[in-house]
Amino acid sequence: MPSVIYTASDGSEVTVTGYPGDSVMETAVRNGVPGIVAECGGSLSCATCHVFVCPSSVESFPPMEDLENDMLDGTAVDRAENSRLSCQLILHDDMDIRVQTPETQV
Ligand code: FES
Repeated sequence: MPSVIYTASDGSEVTVTGYPGDSVMETAVRNGVPGIVAECGGSLSCATCHVFVCPSSVESFPPMEDLENDMLDGTAVDRAENSRLSCQLILHDDMDIRVQTPETQV
């Protein structure tokens, strides 16, 4: 099963076991992980599921599509090189992923 470590901006961490095919966003929301709002429910229209993917996990996901790239220009906390929208990050078997949530999503 995939595992995701969510690190908050204050350094606190939550580790969650996810399901293959679920997104990093869905896994957070389902398990009450703070720091991801996901207002649009994953339809790529809100940018409130912004995360910073830790360097060791960046290669685990395919490159972003143009729409995700455009949406990242509207995040509450400025995007960085490792920014992704977590509703677009799909888990697969035996992934060990680490992401950091921004200070705010709205
Ligand atoms: S949940 Fe809205 S863009 Fe990801």
